[in-house]
Amino acid sequence: LSNGLGLTPQMGWNSWNHFNCKIEEKVIRETADAPVSTGLAKLGYQYVNIDDCWAELERDSKGYLVPHKVTFPSGIKALADYVHSKGLKLGIYSDAGYLTCSKKMPGSLGHEEQDAMTFASWGIDYLKYDNCNNDGSKPTVRYPVMTRALMKAGRPIFFSLCEWGDLHPALWGAQLGNSWRTTNDISDNWDSMVSRADMNEVYAEPARPGGWNDPDMLEVGNGGMTKDEYIVHFSIWAISKAPLLIGCDVRNMTKETMYIVGNKEVIAVNQDPLGVQAKKVRMEGDLEVWAGPLSNYRVALLLVNRGPWPSPVTAHWDDIGLPMETVVEARDLWKHKTLPRRFKNKLTATMNSHACQMYVLTPISSVD
Ligand code: DGJ
Repeated sequence: LSNGLGLTPQMGWNSWNHFNCKIEEKVIRETADAPVSTGLAKLGYQYVNIDDCWAELERDSKGYLVPHKVTFPSGIKALADYVHSKGLKLGIYSDAGYLTCSKKMPGSLGHEEQDAMTFASWGIDYLKYDNCNNDGSKPTVRYPVMTRALMKAGRPIFFSLCEWGDLHPALWGAQLGNSWRTTNDISDNWDSMVSRADMNEVYAEPARPGGWNDPDMLEVGNGGMTKDEYIVHFSIWAISKAPLLIGCDVRNMTKETMYIVGNKEVIAVNQDPLGVQAKKVRMEGDLEVWAGPLSNYRVALLLVNRGPWPSPVTAHWDDIGLPMETVVEARDLWKHKTLPRRFKNKLTATMNSHACQMYVLTPISSVD
């Protein structure tokens, strides 16, 4: 969407994966403190996004959405002011239907302009727009109404379409929003995570600056996967130019979680200005090679072992888009080390079960 936003995939936090409907303004305020105190804000995590369940079930007599009186007593405007005072941005959630998915608050269908104006007047910077409890018409009919309403609202608002991939939003989402979900909801386990990565991969082509595929939010830190599995999760999301929306309780992150979501070099791949989504360029049983171009002729490379045993896997230059004779320097993004030797034609690495290796390959002029 040409609103000047999402030139790189959005980074931040969202309440749903960890808190579901159990959100309140205290959690959001404390969550806004965390990126600043942990250093995540400096790494680019800027959106603090409230998901479903923030409003009263009934609109007021004039049809306006009303923040939940018990859980959000200070209202959303005060929260936005607080989040902005931390140098961060506030996101909110609505639905292109009559009720949101939780059925605990109204959707925006039929109230698009009024709600977009309300969000803008509160200082909202981001809208996630769900697809539950609608009138049965196509999302391609209902979503543009909100796109236009946001564009008239007088404030740049990142627009995240949450249609779950059923009608291939990758094929039409770029005109309507800054990102679009390509999958249904992720759960905090390996199978769910890798299957979302696969569903998202097939739509690599349309993703570009201004509009990104969204395989759903991160589960890193929620406890359902091993450290290596979370590293695979974060690495695939990063190389796929997926939104990096942390979905754990950032107020109580372990060192391990911080080590993963705080990996500057992996984040830099995600935020590379070229904005090309990597593809799975080779599969040998459970072994996979993912690769995509980066700015300055570099290549991002991810080797993944989805199988039960440690195994070597090889990336061949003709699979990953490097001319055959090119000599590269390889930077290991998880060890934070440039490998001592240079590579030509191929690179082989061994990985444990459910683990990965991630590199940036930089062409150099000669082998020395
Ligand atoms: C469905 C979406 O896919 C989720 O991410 C979340 O927003 C829930 N709805 C909220 O009800």
